[in-house]
Amino acid sequence: MTDAMSSKSVEIHKGAPQESAWDYAPAPERTPVVIDDRYDLFINGDFQSPRSRRWFKTISPSTGEPLARIATANEADVDDAVSAAREALPGWSRLSGQERAKYLFRIARRIQERARELSVLETMDGGKPIKESRDVDIPLAARHFFYHAGWADKLRWAFAGAEAKPVGVCGQIIPWNFPLLMAAWKIAPALACGNTCVLKPAETTSLTALRLAEIFQEAGLPPGVVNIVTGAGKTGQHLAAHQGIDKLAFTGSTEVGRAIAEVAAVGDRNLTLELGGKSPHIIFADAALDQAIEGIVTGIWFNQGHVCCAGSRLFVEESIKDEVIRRLEHRMQSLRVGDPLDKNTDIGAINNPEQLKKIQAYVETGQSEGGRLHEIPNQSLPNKGYWHRPCFLTGVQPSHVIAREEVFGPVLAVMTFRTPEEALKRANNTPYGLAAGVWTDKGARIFEMAKRLEAGVIWCNTYNQFDAASPFGGIKESGFGREGGRHGLRAYVRL
Ligand code: NAI
Ligand code: MG
Repeated sequence: MTDAMSSKSVEIHKGAPQESAWDYAPAPERTPVVIDDRYDLFINGDFQSPRSRRWFKTISPSTGEPLARIATANEADVDDAVSAAREALPGWSRLSGQERAKYLFRIARRIQERARELSVLETMDGGKPIKESRDVDIPLAARHFFYHAGWADKLRWAFAGAEAKPVGVCGQIIPWNFPLLMAAWKIAPALACGNTCVLKPAETTSLTALRLAEIFQEAGLPPGVVNIVTGAGKTGQHLAAHQGIDKLAFTGSTEVGRAIAEVAAVGDRNLTLELGGKSPHIIFADAALDQAIEGIVTGIWFNQGHVCCAGSRLFVEESIKDEVIRRLEHRMQSLRVGDPLDKNTDIGAINNPEQLKKIQAYVETGQSEGGRLHEIPNQSLPNKGYWHRPCFLTGVQPSHVIAREEVFGPVLAVMTFRTPEEALKRANNTPYGLAAGVWTDKGARIFEMAKRLEAGVIWCNTYNQFDAASPFGGIKESGFGREGGRHGLRAYVRL
């Protein structure tokens, strides 16, 4: 716990307990989940002790308590995993699409059958509210396997007139914000197209990926088709630099993405990158305000703002500024921060202490640059673990750090505009280009804005809508390549 955190919790215990219309009785999720003391690497269809002989702790960010020890894969371990994937490649790629589809369907069904367990584990290890892991992460992970099972025997029609061959061995490095979902996004299309994989989960959230490995065993997936190497950035570096990798896929920070792009260029590997964002919402005076506020709320406060496409900049048409701020403040009061295993919780724990410090520093900078902080007064926070209240800042200028850099936390920067041209100019004034939200009643304006906003994904009168059939990805410094849909398959085939 950081100093700032402990001072916050002291302040809470002095105050009267919060009692309001929003106090529900606790509704803890009680599905028991068995967590082993120690997890090994998943290589060639089996769990193996790491050659490194080293393990690291994974904690629950809502308590700070350790959950398990996870193997650290060193260079030799990564090499074993890549060799296993290489050996499995001919057999797997020669299977008919129909046969590969059967495995993917089986995996999807097994994810559904074990959904509750996976949701609880995701929430314990990563800190996100159970209602999100239960209703979003895990169902979407299953959906990605179902969807890609459907493509496995239809690749001929996905790329008309061309024969789609697998790329080969895929190295896949994923972050901690959507652990199982990111694994599914990356593994399902790769397998559908006949590739084999080595996946590296983020070091703070490896547990559900390791459960997925068990599901691969249950589904009878041939050994070596998917291998999972755990560890921190160093393990990721070994994987990215391995000469036996034909294709690299990375989701995470722009900084690491850049380093990986350099490594991939040297080895002439195929590469897709999903990086950060500073996605804008533009809300016009004619927008349906209740709907827009809900979209903005989920856009920034969903998953504690640990979302690459979080709508973290809000541009409000000047005439409705006061009304929007009033409604945002009102809606924010009803958000419940706390135990992520409680089914009523809206905002869970911040994934890791470094991230919490980073968010706190951004909020401080935002204020010192002249922004005014709006947060829920007197709301109690648990006294263990890592927490940040949902908040927003007004009085923000486009030049402020809080308006330019990715916070990756529940912090919204509110700004205004007078004309559509000004809105576009301000929204596009960012090195990123992942997503954008437009809120207006006018169809013609929606099309005009969507055409001119520089972002890979543009949502109109809605936000954060995802589906396996819909391609997702960024432009500019948010990365390149698409995941999901027919576009997402393209990265996993040679034509
Ligand atoms: P990160 O980019 O360091 O980690 C993402 C993954 O890359 C993890 O699996 C990590 O172990 C691995 N990795 C780290 N260094 C590597 C290297 N040199 N070579 C290969 N793999 C490497 O992200 P981190 O440190 O967890 O978070 C830092 C910031 O990144 C956050 O504050 C946030 O702003 C941003 N971020 C963005 C995400 C997105 O989805 N766009 C996801 C996670 C973080
Ligand atoms: Mg953890």
